[in-house]
Amino acid sequence: MTLVSTAALLDAQRAVLAFNVVQLEHGEAILRGAELAGRGVILQVSENAAKYHGGLAPIGLASLELAREAGTATAVHLDHAEDETLVEEAVRLGFTSVMFDAATLPDEENRERTAVVARTAQAQGVWVEAELGAIGGKGGAHTPGVRTDPGEAVAFVAGTGVDGLAVAVGSSHAMTSRSATLDFGLIRELAAAVPVPLVLHGSSGVSDEDLVRAVDAGMRKINISTHINGVFTRAVRERLDADPSLVDPRKYLGPARDAVAAEVARLLTLVA
Ligand code: G3H
Ligand code: ZN
Repeated sequence: MTLVSTAALLDAQRAVLAFNVVQLEHGEAILRGAELAGRGVILQVSENAAKYHGGLAPIGLASLELAREAGTATAVHLDHAEDETLVEEAVRLGFTSVMFDAATLPDEENRERTAVVARTAQAQGVWVEAELGAIGGKGGAHTPGVRTDPGEAVAFVAGTGVDGLAVAVGSSHAMTSRSATLDFGLIRELAAAVPVPLVLHGSSGVSDEDLVRAVDAGMRKINISTHINGVFTRAVRERLDADPSLVDPRKYLGPARDAVAAEVARLLTLVA
């Protein structure tokens, strides 16, 4: 049994990488990579991934089971939930943490709704992340110009009681080039002012070197999705191009899973 609480994992490591599980092979690859690197890791399932699978339970329970059987400390997190009932379901299923994302709402409504979610989930021992500053790219448009104000972040954490805060510091979701320009001064300022772990979203757009610098500056949870999807899909495409007669999915999903495992191990070692 190596399912651990998200809080314990964050306490045990300087930084924790959180990778998105889109399908079963992602979860298997991420955990194989974590075992290779000898590092704890977070499997996260987004509201969008749950929708894709017709509900949270199938992919969520698979992720929880993989985590229980993993050879390394693993937490399971609900990512970017905009719907409170999905948060409640994740808590019921046994997720160790949730992100309630009301960042696109007016700040006051974000604060009020997040505070309720935090109280309810924390009462069940679940770690709660929220977002302030609407990190770009969620709707497909990259808006890396958005920034989280440190004073507002401190007030938001005090007003909601959240355990972790996603902040806008220059990254943007779903970038396929690793060319984001992070504001390291702001990360340091936020890390010094905000009393809970900071979360970097849209980390696929961040270069290796800047991921290390972001952790050095104080980022604690690093969310990566698009980058490993790229690794996965390139490997599938390569196999199918190499052998157009393939029909057994295991023959192309297997190599893709291996490629993601290797990249996850490399990234975990990079920020260790
Ligand atoms: O919440 C998930 C992450 O922020 C992933 O973003 O796909 O740009 O790496 P990404
Ligand atoms: Zn995100």
